[in-house]
Amino acid sequence: VLCDLQERCAAPAARLRMVADAMDVEMRAGLASEDGSKLKMLVTYVDSLPSGDEKGLFYALDLGGTNFRVLRVQLGGKEQRVIKQESVGVSIPQHLMSGSPHELFDFIAAALTKFVASEGVDYHLPEGTQRELGFTFSFPVKQTSISSGILIKWTKNFAVDEMVGKDIVAELNEAIKRKGLVMKVSALVNDTVGTLAAGRYVDNDTIVAVILGTGTNAAYIEHVHAIPKWHVHLPKSADMIINMEWGNFKSGHLPLTEFDQALDAESLNPGEQIYEKLTSGMYMGEIVRRILLRMAQEAALFGDHTPPKLETPYILKTFHMLMMHHDTSSDLKTVSLKLKEILGIESTSRKTRKLVVEVCEVVARRGARLAAAGIYGILKKLDRVTCSADKPRSVIAVDGGVYKYYTFFGQCMESTLRDMLGEEVASSIVIKPVDDGSGIGAALLAASYSQYLQDDE
Ligand code: BG6
Ligand code: GLC
Repeated sequence: VLCDLQERCAAPAARLRMVADAMDVEMRAGLASEDGSKLKMLVTYVDSLPSGDEKGLFYALDLGGTNFRVLRVQLGGKEQRVIKQESVGVSIPQHLMSGSPHELFDFIAAALTKFVASEGVDYHLPEGTQRELGFTFSFPVKQTSISSGILIKWTKNFAVDEMVGKDIVAELNEAIKRKGLVMKVSALVNDTVGTLAAGRYVDNDTIVAVILGTGTNAAYIEHVHAIPKWHVHLPKSADMIINMEWGNFKSGHLPLTEFDQALDAESLNPGEQIYEKLTSGMYMGEIVRRILLRMAQEAALFGDHTPPKLETPYILKTFHMLMMHHDTSSDLKTVSLKLKEILGIESTSRKTRKLVVEVCEVVARRGARLAAAGIYGILKKLDRVTCSADKPRSVIAVDGGVYKYYTFFGQCMESTLRDMLGEEVASSIVIKPVDDGSGIGAALLAASYSQYLQDDE
């Protein structure tokens, strides 16, 4: 059974090249026309990244990852950079993720109000200015300016249906007003865009950002002349950040199994976000659950009876999967503990536990290798995969729970990318973890696009 699974999930080098080529082709198609591809290749209105000169007090709201977060940062310009920063994480109650926009945004505005009220004296808002906010909203948005945009669709575990087609910032502004708070959204950004900004702040060669978390996505810096569909308002600068929404990538070369097909069919968004369903934190644990369930039903993996909890969708999180996968104890203690705690499976043989670890490995390896192929596809599009004497350094900023905590996944992705690039090219490509990237990145972009001048304090 395991061999069969390994075979069907395999992503050998030749297949990865085809996936990368397809990513490159789809990127170009998505840049050419609005509905040219599964990849939306969204124009973000971010045409310049932080320079390091940003000064002042800025806020960020981060919605769309595991936790909702609020952050404030006092920026001190070139010399001092980040003088002080603080953040709080709040988990969003499940019912608000599929309730009404009003309820969701009231909850967000309440957390923001509480956070502002807790501000110490060592944060300074220059006189005559209002508080400004970078809003990281990690879903596909069709931007209408740097600080406004329409929700195209929800992804991951959100389904506040009434919001689709509406302006996200208008909704937030109204909720902020209802709370009596004075604050202005000066930048609306995707988490990948925030991460790119944060990456750029610490390393000027940052050109791509990738999120590997609950969902997965990438953003990168594109030349305006390579965006044929962008003919309405040509910005003065030559570059534009593109939010790829690569989670929606799909290709006949992806190694999909019947487990993936069933997961997709029963998901909140059937037929969509197929690449995300293979590579991200919301789904990998669920794929493992489905495989274990089949093994329990057809091969009595856990004894004569199928453990009832194993039949509960999404009960096994990717976080549990990685804890089992990373278990290095000789008797696989953690695996045994997790199987008991989460799935109610009382006792297992070492052989069974080993098999569980191997299932985790097959699923994680496939996801990590496909993620590497996606990055290779972007680098190919940017002409950074061939050797040449003057090839610039390319830095890829990475964030998200899967990358941060799933060590096997991160290492497998990086080694796969290195193999695809070859030693010489790989030496000019740097994968850089940017912790809490999009929070600080959004605050930096709020500063870059502030309505007040930052330099003349
Ligand atoms: C965080 C970013 O570090 O990673 C968020 O600041 C982003 O904006 C998140 O959405 C993604 O990771 P996860 O695992 O929380 O979905
Ligand atoms: C989903 C969202 C995307 C986000 C990603 C990572 O794919 O659609 O906007 O960047 O998750 O959080």
